[in-house]
Amino acid sequence: MENFVAYNPTRLHFGENIVENLGTTVKQYGKKALLICGKGSVKKYGYFDQVISQLQSSGIEVVEYSGIKSNPIIEDVEKAIQLGKKNNIDVIVALGGGSVIDSSKIVSLGIPTDDNPWDFMTWKLNPEKAIPIVTILTLAATGTEMNAAAVVQNHTTGQKVGYVNPLMFPKDSFLDPSFTVSVPKNYTSFGIVDLIAHSLEAFFGKGEPSVIDQITIDIIKDAVKFGPLLMNDLTNVELRAKIMLDATLALNGLTTYGKKSGDWGVHALGHELSLLFDTPHGASLSIVYPAWLKLMQPRISERIITLGKGVFGVNSAEETIDSFIDFFKKIESPVLLNEIGINENKRGLIIEQYAKNKVSGMNHDLSEDDHKKIVDFMFA
Ligand code: NZQ
Ligand code: ZN
Repeated sequence: MENFVAYNPTRLHFGENIVENLGTTVKQYGKKALLICGKGSVKKYGYFDQVISQLQSSGIEVVEYSGIKSNPIIEDVEKAIQLGKKNNIDVIVALGGGSVIDSSKIVSLGIPTDDNPWDFMTWKLNPEKAIPIVTILTLAATGTEMNAAAVVQNHTTGQKVGYVNPLMFPKDSFLDPSFTVSVPKNYTSFGIVDLIAHSLEAFFGKGEPSVIDQITIDIIKDAVKFGPLLMNDLTNVELRAKIMLDATLALNGLTTYGKKSGDWGVHALGHELSLLFDTPHGASLSIVYPAWLKLMQPRISERIITLGKGVFGVNSAEETIDSFIDFFKKIESPVLLNEIGINENKRGLIIEQYAKNKVSGMNHDLSEDDHKKIVDFMFA
């Protein structure tokens, strides 16, 4: 087991109608809120109105920034920072999926300073203050509702990077599974893939504490059991709740107790695909994970077998990898690049991008030769 520090200050409010406590909660942090949303789903399905009425009935003045795109970009973050500064806001309320919440986290660091927010994301500056954030999650996937990470793209510098700072833990996060029943089939599937991928990143990190291995395997098993049921019953709130809790547990720190960190190589490889082709995050992972496992099979076969035995009851690394591929297919997430319209003529571009950004894992290093092999597996 590795040494570790456990810290998670986010207060989680979980369950149907839990948003009834939103107004009084936000009021603790001030009277003027910057409400940040995505491209329109929250208005279409009525969540926006519920949140606004909660805030207004508690006497909170609301300034709105809408339009955060999936795979969020730094330009939106910069505009929301300007709006927040101009209006002298006290608190940020993030209503949406990972893209909205991640953007809001960087906005929370950007409002108190005149520094360039991309300098935080790239670790050039170390911000010391943040505006408090309250989130209302509408898509189960990333775990951002209970962690201190944010991932944003910058097309000028050609990067999609993750940044972690304890100042970015949401103060409170509201998770009502009925807010996720409108998530379409494809993003429901990508969310299930993402939570499994977070569990796998933890599992392949340095350090193998037995109790955490078991918890991590159980999170994956729960998603493998209930994910396909949910895919056939998208409005089932109980199934939505199970997947929502799985997703939070997969990346709120628990799965890396007793570890140095997760590996995160697969996420790094997937982020480059999202940057180049705007691939949805979960879809990038169901393509990269099987390829990475195939590359790693001769190097860490025992560890892959432990995983396969725990999750699927199989006894070899090959069967473990095949079981993950079959599962991703079963929930209709892509497992090869050509399934999402990326053809062989992009092979060179992807390999170049991996080399340029020196894509690697924190536990399992990836060489340029490994990049080529992984890209081959993603086309095979
Ligand atoms: O923009 P709107 O109209 O809201 O539509 C969104 C978007 O099109 C829609 N959606 C969200 N909630 C909905 C809904 N549609 C109907 N009903 C609802 N209730 O779903 C689409 C995808 O939303 P997005 O927020 O982009 O998805 P997700 O939550 O998967 O977030 C992905 C982003 O999170 C980053 C990813 O890299 C990606 O940029 N990640 C963040 C992490 C973190 N902070 O810890 C870790 C993850 O590994 C990941 O990297
Ligand atoms: Zn992820």
